[in-house]
Amino acid sequence: MQLTVATVPPHAARADWLIVPVCEDGLPPLVAELDQRLGGALTRLREGQDLSGKPSELVPLLNLSELAAPRVMLVGLGKRTELTRLTLTRAGFAAAKAVAGKKRQRVAAVLPEPANGLAWADVVLAFAAGLLQGGHGPGIRQSAPEEVQLLAPPDAPALESVARRAEVEGRAVRLARDLVNMPACDLYPETFAQRAREVGERLGVGCTVLDERQLAEERMGCLLGVARGSARPPRLVVLRHRGGTTDRWLGLVGKGVTFDSGGLSLKTNEQMLEMKCDMAGAATVLAAVQALAELHAPVNVLGVLALVENMPSGQALKLGDVLTARTGKTVEVLNTDAEGRLILADALAYAVDQKASHLVDLATLTGACMVALGTEVAGLMSNDQAWAGRVLAAIERAGERAWPLPMFADYGELIKSQVADIKNVGGKYAGAIIGAKFLEHFVGNTPWVHLDIAGPAFVSEDSPTRDAGGTGCFVRSLVELASRYEAGES
Ligand code: BES
Ligand code: MN
Ligand code: ZN
Repeated sequence: MQLTVATVPPHAARADWLIVPVCEDGLPPLVAELDQRLGGALTRLREGQDLSGKPSELVPLLNLSELAAPRVMLVGLGKRTELTRLTLTRAGFAAAKAVAGKKRQRVAAVLPEPANGLAWADVVLAFAAGLLQGGHGPGIRQSAPEEVQLLAPPDAPALESVARRAEVEGRAVRLARDLVNMPACDLYPETFAQRAREVGERLGVGCTVLDERQLAEERMGCLLGVARGSARPPRLVVLRHRGGTTDRWLGLVGKGVTFDSGGLSLKTNEQMLEMKCDMAGAATVLAAVQALAELHAPVNVLGVLALVENMPSGQALKLGDVLTARTGKTVEVLNTDAEGRLILADALAYAVDQKASHLVDLATLTGACMVALGTEVAGLMSNDQAWAGRVLAAIERAGERAWPLPMFADYGELIKSQVADIKNVGGKYAGAIIGAKFLEHFVGNTPWVHLDIAGPAFVSEDSPTRDAGGTGCFVRSLVELASRYEAGES
């Protein structure tokens, strides 16, 4: 799959489909000229109220003879004054998805004119992010179009390098989506680690895989505790992209539970149904590292993937068991379904020991976060306001969504244990925050952000603007964060 930029006028673009974005408030010059070529067809559609330009509205025009492309897909962007990256991505996705499955070796898309404070580069990254994913499909092995050509007006700045970044990001998001969509019978800690090794070898990224013996040597008692119930042995993958000029390292840590049955605190069928998605955090980290390596990003990134399967068995973790974490802290396990925080405890401590200067972890950690914020937004929790601000800004620039949740000190009392230093569950309320308060014990003084992605990592229902399955959320945000990491102060 290739993404190119051209300044050929839209009517002359040779493609199976021409994607044309339209706004609610008037046609931009490139589209107005297309309208003329089509004998005013777009104006008439508007007058007849068959084309409103509302966000992600789709109107196909077929069997055209006036243009080099025989088919046009009009897609709405809403009001120009309210244009956002998210609207652009959704529209791109909707249009690409609508032409997917039809004849479409070559797709050309007219680039929308920047508005509402966005620059050309923002428009390319956001629109292409949708175009490249919408053609992908929810399946694991569905084919994508060979080429997507972006059509820019002649007076636009050079956009080749930003298109190249969009292409790299598109491939990375697909990697994350594909990994999440893989069933747990095919993707388990060993096969996931193998995929990471392949990425490492292909791109010259350092990749070390710790097996159970090495995990024991590294005193990862919490991670090993979760893994005990499964026939599949755990792995910890350590990735190193060395592109920086300082000795600072951005540490990215991902929850990689390849299947979460809940363990002895067994989930119901309904709750377990989508639990192959519980490794989305690890998939995001691997995908982001792949993108940063392909872009030769001038930054040092440490990626840590904590890979386990959470299963019940005769060897499984029992309620009341006490585990000793890598840091020496003891943890009373009162619910084996709160397994993500256990494996992240050791993975975060490991990243701290590997001298990560700043940390971000991504985890499908709690259903409570979905109750609080819904399925479209990640919860963001942190021990450092300045770092949280930088991560939020990067997420915003990527057109993704996270929302801060408070980390009140006294909420830490909810996980005090009678028999150990802490317990792995609190009470009924503030479940997302309790998960973060638990993790906070294992990051020391390192500035750290926890993203609870239980909501946005996976979509249950297929829709015109989304494919069911893994979303690849936050891959682009991490690329944005890492790209600017060295420039940031502290
Ligand atoms: N993987 C789940 C969280 C989850 C739920 C992710 C729904 C995606 C969709 C996590 O391991 C879990 O089971 N969390 C428990 C925590 C509880 C036992 C404190 C939960 O949310 O119920
Ligand atoms: Mn669980
Ligand atoms: Zn889980």
